[in-house]
Amino acid sequence: GSGLLADQFGRVATDLRVSLTDRCNLRCNYCMPEEGLAWMPREQQLSDDEVGRLIRVAVTQLGITGVRFTGGEPLIRRGLVGILAGVARLEPRPKMSITTNGIGLERMAGALRDAGLDRVNVSLDTLSPARFMELTHRDRHADVLKGLAGAAAAGLTPVKINTVLMRGINDGEAPALLQFALDHGYELRFIEQMPLDAQHQWDRHEMVTAEAILESLSPFGLIPDSVSRGTAPAETWLVPGYRDAAGNPARVGVIGSVTRPFCGDCDRTRLTADGQVRNCLFATGETDLRGLIRGGGSDEEIAEAWRIAMWGKKAGHGIDDPSFLQPDRPMSAIGG
Ligand code: GTP
Ligand code: 5AD
Ligand code: SF4
Repeated sequence: GSGLLADQFGRVATDLRVSLTDRCNLRCNYCMPEEGLAWMPREQQLSDDEVGRLIRVAVTQLGITGVRFTGGEPLIRRGLVGILAGVARLEPRPKMSITTNGIGLERMAGALRDAGLDRVNVSLDTLSPARFMELTHRDRHADVLKGLAGAAAAGLTPVKINTVLMRGINDGEAPALLQFALDHGYELRFIEQMPLDAQHQWDRHEMVTAEAILESLSPFGLIPDSVSRGTAPAETWLVPGYRDAAGNPARVGVIGSVTRPFCGDCDRTRLTADGQVRNCLFATGETDLRGLIRGGGSDEEIAEAWRIAMWGKKAGHGIDDPSFLQPDRPMSAIGG
C-alpha cells in the first residue's frame, strides 16, 4: 500500500510525537513516584540511528509534517542534538519542537536552535521554589526559570508553558502563573490532569476542570480567540492589554482533555523510546517497529506497519466510559 496515516474516522495523522527516553530528572508527583520507575533497559531503547530512520520514513513516506520530542525528559537524551540535525536535513523539512521540564535548557538552547529546533514547551506548575520542591522532589525551580529565559533568548519562540493544576495544591496560583507568563512573553496553557500517572491515583473529582480554570482567570477579562484551534489540544483566549514577545496579542490556553475532549480532530501518532507506535495517548495496544527494523525490515514494510497501526485508532479516549482502563504505560513512557 501507500498513502498517509489515516484512520477509520477520517482523521489523518500529520504530527509525530517521539519519546526519546522514559527517564527524568524530576519526580512530579502526578507522574511518577519519588524512587523513580523501572526504567527501560538500554538495549530496548532505539539507537539514534534507529530513531532517525523511523522519523525519516514518517516524514518522507507517511506525510508527517511536525515532530515533537518528548520523554520522560528529552534533554537528557545524549544524542538529542544529532537527532535534531538529522531530521532538519529531511525533505520536506518538518517543524520540530520539544516538550521539556526546562532543566538544562538554558545551557542547551543555542545548540538546539542551531540543530534546527523551532520551539519549546516547558512544564512549570508553580512559582514557589518550596512548592516546586514538594511537587517534583528536586530543588530545581531556578533552573526551570533560567531555561525559559534561555529558550526565549535563543529564539525558540513562542515559548509555551504547560501547567497542570491540582486542587488545593497549586490551583490558587493560576492567576499569578498567568501574570508571570504575560510579564515574560510566554504563552501559558493550563492542562486538565489525565489518568496517566504511574501510581494510578488520578481521581476525576479531584481534577481542576477547564471551567474552574476559566472562572479563576475571570479578573483578566479573557476574550475568546477568533482563531480556531484546528487540531491543537489547547483552546485559547486573548488577554486584553498584553502582547507576546513578538508583539501579537497575548494568549492563554486551556487544554481540557477530559471535560472538553478534542479526539475528533486528533492529528497525532506516537513513537515510544523502545520503538512502539501508539495510535493514541490512551491506546491499549502498540505496534512494534523496533522488531521490524532489527529484523531487517524495509522502509516500505515499516511504513505499511505504521499505516495499519493508525487505521485501528479509536474514536476517542473513552475516559468517561465505565469500562475505561488506564494504559499500561505511564505518561513518562509515552511522552504525553
Ligand atoms: P503545541 O504544538 O505547542 O500545541 O503542543 P501540544 O500542546 O500539543 O504539546 P505538549 O507536549 O506541550 O502537550 C501539552 C498537553 O497536552 C500535555 O498534557 C499532553 O499530554 C496533552 N496532549 C498532547 N497530545 C494529546 C493528545 O493527543 N490527547 C490528549 N488527550 N492530550 C494530549
Ligand atoms: N495529565 C495531564 N498532563 C500531564 N503532564 C504530565 N502528566 C500529566 C497528566 N497526568 C504534562 C506535563 C507536561 C506535559 C507533557 O504533560 O506537565 O507539561
Ligand atoms: Fe518528568 Fe514530565 Fe513526568 Fe514531571 S511530568 S516527572 S517532568 S516526565
